[in-house]
Amino acid sequence: MPMTVLEPLGGLTDPLDVVREWRVDELLGAADLDAALEQLDYNRDLRAQIYVPPSLGEFPAAFAGEHRVYVCVNQKGGAGKTTTSVELACAWVAMGYTVRLIDADPQDASLSAWLTPVYGDTPEGERFDLTDVMFNRRSLDEATYYTNIQGLYIVPSGETLGQVEYDPKAGRDGSLRGAIRKSKAPVDITIIDAPPALGKLSINGLIAADEVIVPLKVGALDKKALKELHDTIRAVQDDANPDLFVRAAVMTAWDKSKFAGKVAAQLRTDYPEAIVAPVRRSVKAAEAPDHGVPVRVFHPAAKATGDYDQLARTLLPAKGATAA
Ligand SMILES: Nc1ncnc2c1ncn2[C@@H]1O[C@H](COP(=O)(O)OP(=O)(O)OP(=O)(O)O)[C@@H](O)[C@H]1O
Ligand SMILES: [Mg+2]
Repeated sequence: MPMTVLEPLGGLTDPLDVVREWRVDELLGAADLDAALEQLDYNRDLRAQIYVPPSLGEFPAAFAGEHRVYVCVNQKGGAGKTTTSVELACAWVAMGYTVRLIDADPQDASLSAWLTPVYGDTPEGERFDLTDVMFNRRSLDEATYYTNIQGLYIVPSGETLGQVEYDPKAGRDGSLRGAIRKSKAPVDITIIDAPPALGKLSINGLIAADEVIVPLKVGALDKKALKELHDTIRAVQDDANPDLFVRAAVMTAWDKSKFAGKVAAQLRTDYPEAIVAPVRRSVKAAEAPDHGVPVRVFHPAAKATGDYDQLARTLLPAKGATAA
């Protein structure tokens, strides 16, 4: 398979407005949410826009060169975790970073639908994966492989990763955190793509990460699930990983609607520290996995590609662009 070199990010063709004061905030705590919603202007206040909380100060926050670990987590299936992991990874590679994706989803066609490890001459019996890491059989670096995208590495999940959930010997005490800390691979960013469950693998991801990204699909919103996710993240912050920061909530396959406004307000309430960003619905985003490539490669002009570009640049400066 030929190596793809991602082009540096160019100008954004259809950028979203970035707001630091958000009219959607007028919905927060409203006794009559629908009445409050009526006060908002549908076209102006509920349009696609990126909200950056004032608490964040300057953005993108400086990248001082330390390795940074993100986890994309949501126990709801089809929330856009894998799409967000892959597209942010590719955008950051295009911005000059070296990125490692960890496929922490035991499902068969997860990350591997978009990206495949390049094993080269490594014989089959000597190929390792996250399952080996979670069972302490191999180091993370031994399970890290090239992909056909230059600058992007992958840790495949392995066919038996699901066993981690119920085998008491695996993934104990947040062992993924230790494995990442011990890694010497020269990567700038590691992104963990969590599975659709709040079991041991997602918890290991939360314990290992510096920053959380919560993707969710507005149309498939499940309030109970969202609360459970929120409680889980806060519990990890209270206990195993007090430095964990919820950096962004991403509304994937976004369409303008009053309901999307309500969801945005819910996210503002749950994660006041987070950037809230939409990624507009795009048929190309839905098609890309069928072609086995990221949306950026399949259709660079797709709205979703541009939205992920902009989110990537809202989260981090281009590599080397900071004198922090
Ligand atoms: N912006 C978008 N527009 C249209 N479709 C999208 C968009 N983002 C993601 N999708 C589609 O939604 C589906 C679910 O996305 P994805 O696989 O990323 O979710 P997930 O949370 O990783 O799912 P799972 O829980 O099964 O791992 C995919 O078919 C994907 O192509
Ligand atoms: Mg997934």
